[in-house]
Amino acid sequence: MTTTLAITTPDDWHLHVRDGAATRAVLPATARQFRRAIIMPNLKPPVRTVAEAAAYRERILAALPPGARFEPLMTLYLTDNTPVDEIRRVAASGFVKALKYYPAGATTNSDAGVTDIARPMAALEAMADAGIPLLMHGEVTDPAVDVFDREAVFVERILDPLLRRLPSLKVVFEHITTRQGAEYVAAAPGNVAATITPQHLLYNRNELFKGGIRPHFYCLPVLKREEHRVALVRAATSGSPKFFLGTDSAPHATNTKEIACGCAGCFTAPHALELYAEAFEAAGALDRLEAFAAFHGPDFYGLPRNSGTVRLERSAWQVPERLDYVDASGIVPLRAGETLAWKLVAGV
Ligand code: DOR
Ligand code: ZN
Repeated sequence: MTTTLAITTPDDWHLHVRDGAATRAVLPATARQFRRAIIMPNLKPPVRTVAEAAAYRERILAALPPGARFEPLMTLYLTDNTPVDEIRRVAASGFVKALKYYPAGATTNSDAGVTDIARPMAALEAMADAGIPLLMHGEVTDPAVDVFDREAVFVERILDPLLRRLPSLKVVFEHITTRQGAEYVAAAPGNVAATITPQHLLYNRNELFKGGIRPHFYCLPVLKREEHRVALVRAATSGSPKFFLGTDSAPHATNTKEIACGCAGCFTAPHALELYAEAFEAAGALDRLEAFAAFHGPDFYGLPRNSGTVRLERSAWQVPERLDYVDASGIVPLRAGETLAWKLVAGV
C-alpha cells in the first residue's frame, strides 16, 4: 500500500478568498497547499476592471503569511456591459488571466452577472481573438428548470451555441457536476476544459440529507446523483488534459450556513489535497493525481508548470470541528470532525 505521495507543487484553478479579514483567515491554508490559484471575482461589488483586480491582488498579497510564495492569478467578472477596451487591458496586464461568467442570479454575488450571453458578445469576441479564457459557471437560471438539471440544460442552451459561434474561445467549464458536463468537455476540442471540486468527486446528493439537512455539503452547482459522481471520477482520473483541479473552496461564516436560508459553498482550502487524494485512491488512480493537480491546469492556461514538490503521507488525522473566521461563529470545514487518511506533511 502506498504510504507516501510526492507530487509536483500543484495549483488551485478555482478559488474564493473573499476580501479583508476573510482573506487573512483563509489564505494561509491555500498558500500551504498550492503555489498559485485562480481567484474568483465575486466580491461585493464585483471585480470588473483591471484596475480593481490590481488593487485586489495587492490586498491578497498583503494577507499572505511572511515567506509565502503564493501567486494569485486574477480574474474579472464579466457583465452585460464589459467593454472591449477592458479586454485589451486584460491582455496587456499579464496578471489578469481570465474572465468569469456568472449567469445573473445563479449563485453567491451573481446579481451583476450576465443576463443574456448575447449582450457581452463583443467582449467575448475580443477574448477569443486574444486567447483569454472564459471561466463559466455552468447553470441556467430559468426557474422552470429543475435545480438538478440546470447544468445539463446550460450545455444545450448556452455552452454549445456559444462555442459554435466562437469556436476558438478558450472555455473552462467550472466545477462540473454532471455526466453531461464531463462528456461534453471530453468530446470538445482542446480549447475547452473543466475543473472538478473534491466534494463532487467524493459525494452524491444523498450526503446533503444524511440524518437531517447538512448545510456544509451545500454548494452550487449542487451535488448530483451517484451516476454523475462516477462520471466525474472517471473524467478526473482519465489522464485527459482537459480536466484539472479547482477546489471552489468558498468560505462562509458558520452563522450564514447553519440558518434557515443558508449560503452555498464548501470550505475545503485547509485539506483540499487530502480530499483529492482520497477520491483518486478510491478510484485506484493515485498515480494520476499529479497531472490533474499540477500539469493540466498550467498547460491549458499556457503557464509554466511549478517546480518543487509537496508530500502527503498516509497518516490518519481529524479535521477540526471549526476554524477561526471573520466572527465568533467561525467556519466549519468540509468533513469537520471526521478522520482523513492522507495528510499533507510537506506543503508549498
Ligand atoms: O457554492 C458556491 N459558492 N458556488 C458558487 O458558485 C459561488 C460560491 C461562493 O462564492 O460562495
Ligand atoms: Zn466558485
